[in-house]
This record gives sequence, C-alpha cells and structure tokens, in this order.
Amino acid sequence: MPSTVVVGGFFGDEGKGKVIAYLALKDKPSIAVRGGVGPNAGHTFTIDGRTYKVRMLPSAVAYRGCRLMIGAGVLIDPDVLLNEVREFGVLDKVVVDHQAGIIEKRHKEMDRAGEHSRMIGTTGSGSGPANADRASRMLRLAKDVDSLARLTGDVSQLVNDALDKGEHVLIEGTQGTFLSLYHGTYPFVTSKDVTASAICSDVGIGPKRVDDVLVVFKAYVTRVGSGMLEGELDREEARRRGWLEVATVTGRERRAAPFNMRLAKRAVMLNSATQIAVTKLDVLFPDCKHARAYEQLSNEAKRFIESIEDELNLKVTLIGTGEDVYDIIDRRK
Ligand code: IMP
Ligand code: MG
Repeated sequence: MPSTVVVGGFFGDEGKGKVIAYLALKDKPSIAVRGGVGPNAGHTFTIDGRTYKVRMLPSAVAYRGCRLMIGAGVLIDPDVLLNEVREFGVLDKVVVDHQAGIIEKRHKEMDRAGEHSRMIGTTGSGSGPANADRASRMLRLAKDVDSLARLTGDVSQLVNDALDKGEHVLIEGTQGTFLSLYHGTYPFVTSKDVTASAICSDVGIGPKRVDDVLVVFKAYVTRVGSGMLEGELDREEARRRGWLEVATVTGRERRAAPFNMRLAKRAVMLNSATQIAVTKLDVLFPDCKHARAYEQLSNEAKRFIESIEDELNLKVTLIGTGEDVYDIIDRRK
C-alpha cells in the first residue's frame, strides 16, 4: 500500500512503536513521517534483545533504509531530537518541517509547575503550553532555530512528491484516539486532535492520499494521567494480571482496565479504520508468546481476536505476541 497511517485506538501506549518498527522493516517505505503532538509521546521497540525508545524520531528508525521526517504539525524539543539523531546516527536521514513548532524551556517549566497541568496529569514535556503559544501565534518554529538548520526542509512537499511517484510512505501517529483534544475525554486530553485526519494534516497530506488506516489496540486498556477509565482495576489486580506498566516518558505507573469494545468501535469510526492491530496478546494468553502464525494461537486467544473482528467488522491484520519486533502475526495479504 502506498500510504498507511498508524494511530492509537485507546489512550496511547497501545504499542504503536513496535508495530511501526515492524511495518518499516517489513514493507521498506521510502519515507516514514511522524505526526502527533510531540515529545510527550514515547515509542518503544525491541530488536535482538535491545530496547530502544524514541520521543521525537519516527519508530521506523528501526529500519535503516528510509528517510525519517517530522511534520509541520508536530512540536520539537531540540535537545530531545538532537540526542536521538546522535544516538541513532541518522543525521543524513532526518528532515524536520521548517514550520514544526519549538518547545522552549519556559513551556516545560509551565507544564511542570502549573496547577491545571497537574490536575490533567500532563507529561510535563511542555507540549500543552507550546501548543497554546502556537494557537496565539507566538511560538517559534524550527526554521528559527540554528541548531536545527541542517535538519529542516519541506516535509509536506517531500511526502506528496514520494506519493506522486508511487512510493510507500508510513505515517506514524502518536497518543491515542481518546486523548484527542476534540474527540477524547476532555479536559483530560492532550493539546491537539490525534485521530488519523489530524495526523495527516500534521504531515501535510489530504484525506484522499491515505490508502490504509491501521488502528492499534492493546489487548487491554491502559491510561496515564487523570480522566475516566471504564472498568479500571485496582493496582494489585493489575499487577496480578501483568497489566501494570510504567510510562516511557514520565516513569509513572499506568492505570489498567480490560479491553473496551465500546471505545474500540468508536475509535474505528473516528479514524475510518481499514485494519486493526492488537498488541500484547501474550499478556492475556501467555501460551501465545512468540507465536508468529495464527494457527499457533490457542482457541481461547483466537476467540478473543474473532470477537474483535465480529464486533468491529474489520480484520485484525497484525497481532503482537511478544516484545521483539518480529514477535508478530502478520495476516495482511
Ligand atoms: P500532555 O499531552 O503532556 O499535555 O498530557 C495530557 C494527557 O495526555 C495526560 O493524561 C498524559 O498522560 C496523556 N498523554 C500524552 N501523551 C501521551 C502518550 O504518548 N501516551 C500516553 N498518554 C499520553
Ligand atoms: Mg507511549
């Protein structure tokens, strides 16, 4: 498929990083481009026993053959980005749109000290205050920052040119549908819309340029920060089930609840999903760990996947069965 946009179906942390790393290695896109809010998101992937975390670069950095871009709608923390560029050695591959917004020190201070931020339980990354400045048209942009001069370019032009040539572009969303400023559990949401349409807008492509919308759900629901979480388990029960996770960016414990079909249906609608990925199936069904073919799943695990397909009327094309990027069942044609 020439263009695939990948978004989270719940409250972020569905395992998009691993799914995107896999898709990049497998499908070899010419460009991977990130939309979404900014460094408030942490994406994780594991290859050969080594775990990598990115907050600014696309998770497709796992694959060495593509250009890595960040769209105009995204906020940049220059320190975080430059550290990742150095860590992965990808200076020659990265393009940041010159109109991407810049998070300053004062935005982080406001995000960490503000009472309202604390009430929402933000990540403290400065994203909310920076987007507030952007809406006020006071925010500095990437083109104004000397340390980014070697990295900036016209991302929307490059992405549209690649699509014109029939090249494959992988578009990475961040956060999750119910953290959307418009469609989420307001006010306990992030500072932008993060559904598939918004991610496309972030990177500068129109709705007709998207071939596939892959919505990623985890086999259970987690949430960090405040806001409602239907069916929330107490901490001990979450630990007992192996659902107690620690957040990538903030180190906070994530709250946990069972898979929520009602939210999943709504996420399918809000994103016009064409495919579903379900991650961490092995946490629910330990006998599925490392399975790489559907036939290897237990009947109980198959029933879980089939109930999702029946309710959502879509195929679950990717199923995560372990930490490694290749611990995945790929049921795409
Ligand atoms: P902010 O985006 O830092 O302003 O935080 C607003 C809300 O979104 C808080 O509940 C955060 O925990 C949540 N949030 C933001 N980004 C992510 C993410 O990537 N994963 C999970 N939660 C997130
Ligand atoms: Mg995350």
